[in-house]
Amino acid sequence: MRDRVKRIFERAPADVDLILLQNSVAEHKDMSFFHATDLVAGGGFERSVAALHRDGRIDLLVPALEETSAKRAPDATLATYQKTDERKAWIQQVARGAAKLGVNPPETTAQDYLALKDLLPQAQLVDVSQPLADARAVKDKVELARIRRAARIVSEVSDAIPGMLREGLKEFELSAEIGYAMTKRGATGPSFDTIVGFKEGSAEPHYAPKDVPLRKGEFVLCDFGAWFERYASDLTSTWMFGKPTKEMEDIWDTVKRAQDAALAAIRPGAKGADVHNAAADLIDASPWKGRFIHSVGHSLGLAVHDGPALSPRVDWTLEEGMVVTVEPGIYVPGVGGVRIEDDVVVTRGGCEKLTTARRDVRIVG
Ligand code: GLY
Repeated sequence: MRDRVKRIFERAPADVDLILLQNSVAEHKDMSFFHATDLVAGGGFERSVAALHRDGRIDLLVPALEETSAKRAPDATLATYQKTDERKAWIQQVARGAAKLGVNPPETTAQDYLALKDLLPQAQLVDVSQPLADARAVKDKVELARIRRAARIVSEVSDAIPGMLREGLKEFELSAEIGYAMTKRGATGPSFDTIVGFKEGSAEPHYAPKDVPLRKGEFVLCDFGAWFERYASDLTSTWMFGKPTKEMEDIWDTVKRAQDAALAAIRPGAKGADVHNAAADLIDASPWKGRFIHSVGHSLGLAVHDGPALSPRVDWTLEEGMVVTVEPGIYVPGVGGVRIEDDVVVTRGGCEKLTTARRDVRIVG
């Protein structure tokens, strides 16, 4: 993983000679730890530390129970510990002589940050979160292959959902089926809480599935993602169950055209705001002006929202190799909502869709 570490340092201030990435527990882990070490297939790595050197070397410290998993880290020099004092001593040893030490505040707990200040009073702690995020945003071949796999899983599951729909099916039952179908296809787990909304639920972008039965003439909105080896996919499909109204069909078609417009705007050098506006302008020229109430997409990788949004409020320029979601929606209280979301990688000439769910099946049952 020397290349990934070197890419991080190329973007960091020239006088930072060491970057220390610390994992706390459970969800308070630094995803840049996993980017740099590539420890994505097994292992929990709570309370683990990676010290990145400018020449690409990695010193890695993990609790003794993680030793077997940690041996998968290419190029890293591995040490293990059992007692907290051993962890502290290792950090002091590895950072000895470092005048400026890079840290990642957004993904380091305040407790670990303050402990580091006490442990290394001689070092100036420098925020290198932007260089880390920038390096993470552009995927290498290995990372892209993992996202492709995660994207294939959700695409196959999306294509299977029409066959699961029946009157009376509850939102949480469909959510459970989606989770099972992803795991059965090799997902490491769901990359976020699955959203399944019928009718009113579909009009709420971050709805949580409830005890609501499916009826004819309703939208079925499913937004779900898979982890594959710590890399995420994120897909939304919306169907009309039973005979839809003309208004429902028009909403669906408008969202699809908005997505096509946003996809056509993606290329290296494009601004995120322009991609958003390609979809937003189309929706705002329709009868559903003002009903597209979120940004058109976001960066995707070691987290579901892994970096900037494609939004008029964010100054972000796309580069080849970045992976983003493209997910316009229209939400009409009392009628329902439609969102159509795919994951794409930015290519030299535009973008390539990583998710391949069918979009020609709109009406089911
Ligand atoms: N698909 C869930 C989200 O982007 O928030």
